[in-house]
Amino acid sequence: RLLGTAGAAGAAGLVVGGAAGAVGAEVVREDAPTPLSSVGATSVDFRGDRHQPGITTPMQARGHLLAFDLAPGVDRRAVIALLRRWSATAERLMAGEPQSGGADTGIALDAGPSSLTVTFGFGRSFFGRTGLTARLPEALAPLPDFSADVLDPRRSNGDLWVQIGADDALVAFHALRAVQRDAGDAARLRWQMNGFNRSPGATARPMTTRNLMGQVDGTNNPKPGDPDFARRVFVPADGSPGWMAGGSYAVVRRIRMLLDSWDNLSLERQEKVIGRRKSDGAPLSGGTETTPVDLAKLTPEGSLAIAGDAHVRVAAPESNQGAAMLRRPFSYHDGFLDDGAPDAGLLFIAWQADPMKGFVPVQRKLDRGDGLSRFLRHEASGLFAVPPAPEPGSYVGRALLE
Ligand code: HEM
Repeated sequence: RLLGTAGAAGAAGLVVGGAAGAVGAEVVREDAPTPLSSVGATSVDFRGDRHQPGITTPMQARGHLLAFDLAPGVDRRAVIALLRRWSATAERLMAGEPQSGGADTGIALDAGPSSLTVTFGFGRSFFGRTGLTARLPEALAPLPDFSADVLDPRRSNGDLWVQIGADDALVAFHALRAVQRDAGDAARLRWQMNGFNRSPGATARPMTTRNLMGQVDGTNNPKPGDPDFARRVFVPADGSPGWMAGGSYAVVRRIRMLLDSWDNLSLERQEKVIGRRKSDGAPLSGGTETTPVDLAKLTPEGSLAIAGDAHVRVAAPESNQGAAMLRRPFSYHDGFLDDGAPDAGLLFIAWQADPMKGFVPVQRKLDRGDGLSRFLRHEASGLFAVPPAPEPGSYVGRALLE
C-alpha cells in the first residue's frame, strides 16, 4: 500500500495539486511518485514493548484525546468485549491494516501506518461502575484543587480514556472513528479534544518542538536513556496494584494560553518568564539548548540569571524534591472566543509512575508562584491509569478485569 520513494518532484520539493501543471521550468505530473518515504511507512508496535505505545513514542503531528463513560447497566462482560474490540482495532490500524470484518471506513486507504498509536486508560469512576473498587489504585486519588483552576467538569475525567496520535491527519481521524464505532452501545463519548504538533520533516533537522507561545518545549524532559527514566515514568514490576506493573499514570490538562497578553510582552520579558531563550531554547544561565540549567548563576549585576519565578526554576526537580514527569503534549486551537482571543493552548499530558511524585507537587508549586501561570488557564483535567501493553492474544486491561 505504500507508494514508491521520492522521484524528481520530491527532490525538488514541489507539490502540485489537480492536473499536471508547470512550476517554473519543471513539469510535475499528477501521478508522479510522491515522497511518502519514512513518514507514512513508519509503524509502532501495539505490543512491542511492555508498555503501551504513545508514551515514549516520538511526538506525532496529530492527536485526538477521547473520554468515554460506560453506558448505564453495562456489565463486566460487555466491558471486556469492548476492550477486546478496541485492542484488536488498535493493533490492526497501528500495523497499517484496515479494520477487520469489513467494518473499515476507508478513510486511511492509500496511507501507511504513519506512526499511529492508540493508548487506553481507566479513570477513577471506571472502578465503581464495574464493581472493581477493590482494585482501584491509590495513585488514582482525585487530583487536588489548584487555586487558579477554572475546570469544566463536562470536559474533565471520564471512565475510559483513549489517546490517538499519528503523523497524518486522515490516519488519526480514521482511528478516532474506528474507536468511536467500536464503542457501540457499551460506552458513550464524554469529551473529545484535538491537537497537533510539528510535522516530521518540517524542519531541516529533528528538533525539540515549539508550543503556541513560540517556546522550544520539551528540552528538559526525562530521556529513555536516563538511568532513572523507567522508575520515574513506569510502575515497577513489583509495584502496586499488580495489574498496573509496567503501566503509567497520565495527567491530562487542557491549558488555554492567554496569547493576546503573551504576544504583547517584549522578547526579554517572555524569556524571563520561562528562563530560556526563545530562539534556541538555551537557558538564560548560558550555553546551548541542552546545557544543564544553572539555577545559582548570577548576572554581572548580581541578580539571578534565571529569575525566582521563572517557569524552569519553579518546575525543576531540584525545586520539588526530585519530582519529575514525562511531558508529551499536543497543541490545540479551537477557534476564537467571543472577545476575539484565540481558544488555543496546550493539551498537556504528563506521564509518571505516581502522580504524587510527578504532576501534583510540581503543579502545587507552579500554582503558587510561577511567572508563566499568569498567562495560562487550566480549563479541563483528567487522571487515568494506563495499564501495560497486553500480551499476544490478550487485550488491554485483562489483568484488571479477569
Ligand atoms: C519546562 C512551557 C505547563 C512542568 C518547560 C519549558 C517550557 C515550558 C517552554 C522549558 C523547556 C523544557 O524543558 O521543556 C510550558 C507551557 C505550559 C507548561 C507553555 C502550559 C501551557 C507545565 C505544567 C507543568 C510543567 C502544568 C507541571 C505541572 C514543566 C517541567 C519542566 C518544564 C517539569 C522542566 C523543568 C526543568 O527541569 O528544567 N515548560 N509549561 N509545565 N515544564 Fe512547563
